[in-house]
Amino acid sequence: MPHCKICKTDFASFIDFGPMPIANAFLPSGEDDGYRFSMQVGFCPECYMVQLVEQPEPERMFHENYAYFSSISTVMQDHFEQFGSDVRGKLQGKDPFVVEVGSNDGIMLRHFADAGIRHLGIEPSSNVAEAARQRGVNTLCAFFDQDVGRRIRKEYGPVDAVIAANVFCHIPTMPAVIEGFAEMLSDEGVVVFEDPYLGDIVNKTSFDQIYDEHVFYYSVLSVSEMFSRHGFELVDVEPQDVHGGSMRYTLVRKGCRQPSSAVARYRKLERDLKLDVSATYGSFGSKVEAIGRDLTAQLTKFKAEGKRVAGYGATSKSTTVIHSFGLTPDLVEYISDTTPSKHDTLSPGGRIPVVPYERFQADPPDVALLFAWNHAKEIMAKEEAFTRAGGQWLLYVPEVRLLP
Ligand code: SAH
Ligand code: TYD
Repeated sequence: MPHCKICKTDFASFIDFGPMPIANAFLPSGEDDGYRFSMQVGFCPECYMVQLVEQPEPERMFHENYAYFSSISTVMQDHFEQFGSDVRGKLQGKDPFVVEVGSNDGIMLRHFADAGIRHLGIEPSSNVAEAARQRGVNTLCAFFDQDVGRRIRKEYGPVDAVIAANVFCHIPTMPAVIEGFAEMLSDEGVVVFEDPYLGDIVNKTSFDQIYDEHVFYYSVLSVSEMFSRHGFELVDVEPQDVHGGSMRYTLVRKGCRQPSSAVARYRKLERDLKLDVSATYGSFGSKVEAIGRDLTAQLTKFKAEGKRVAGYGATSKSTTVIHSFGLTPDLVEYISDTTPSKHDTLSPGGRIPVVPYERFQADPPDVALLFAWNHAKEIMAKEEAFTRAGGQWLLYVPEVRLLP
């Protein structure tokens, strides 16, 4: 019986998405390695962690050709400048030292580098790690684990803040990683991290947040359970308006600081939302099936009417949508994306061509299927001309709908 990666309890329920490819494996045509893993989500009734039952090996997902460059979105650039500045405002003492886990192309740490603050990014994907180094960000190309934590403490001394975004949700060995934090942090050191928030995923039925890289779907309840097993206490939570709804968590060693009232408030909200109840995930699965039926019906109708549909944003999330519902180039002609490394590739498994953004401008479809719905504000503003010319947007979160 598969069990929880945090507390080893047997799962209470599952959602089964079937076989899935690597979400970010945008490969040139003919290069599909045929790799698939069985994507099932389990709910642990003991520590409330929602998680993938099985996850591909980290090296299959994070490597020298990692496709995701954080700085591709200007909204995310602003967001991480603010995140960095919030953390800097809280640093105490002389000559503080900050470690970021999953620092990618240096989108956040570059602001620490520019301010002359001692810092180290830990980033296993060598292509994005190199982009960070080019910007003056000290970067160690490695997967963070307990041993790396120990080495950092030995080489640099105590760490004042561990910061991270959209990466703890990627790491199946979080218990060992937290032990690593316990070894390298100073007595008053803080861990500040954010990830897509389970409350938003459930509220919006944003099922496409579920893909290979995201092994954990965190809530205030599960984060405080997970860290408290290693001597840490959750002392603050702050909702964030990115990645379709995220939560920022602040943790310190137990007894260091009084938790803010927001922690208790969110615990109650989560119980009211029944995030701690197995049945919630059963009805989530049914809602996903309904979205699938509506979306394929809408796309089939467009096809019958002779309307052209193109995807907007070759997101990791799109792989879940394309694969769960069997979308083909027949229904979605191409996917436009601004990331150079994704150009002239095929979507993983679905084999829909990914093309440069210029194609969308030169050859706009009748309908844009917004795979990058989490960037809707930025994209809709940029694409005013498309909308004005009669172009429509097809969204599927929280339900299938057409705009305008
Ligand atoms: N923090 C950035 C990047 C998120 S993508 C942002 O929010 O935009 C997650 C990043 O974490 C990837 O660059 C990936 O290579 C890295 N990563 C994955 N597993 C890791 C681990 N065990 N330790 C450190 N980084 C890891
Ligand atoms: P994101 O939603 O952050 O990714 P994921 O699901 O992989 O976490 O990725 C946004 C993708 O959309 C990325 O490949 C870049 C692309 N994109 C555009 O093509 N145009 C845009 O204006 C924006 C904001 C993103």
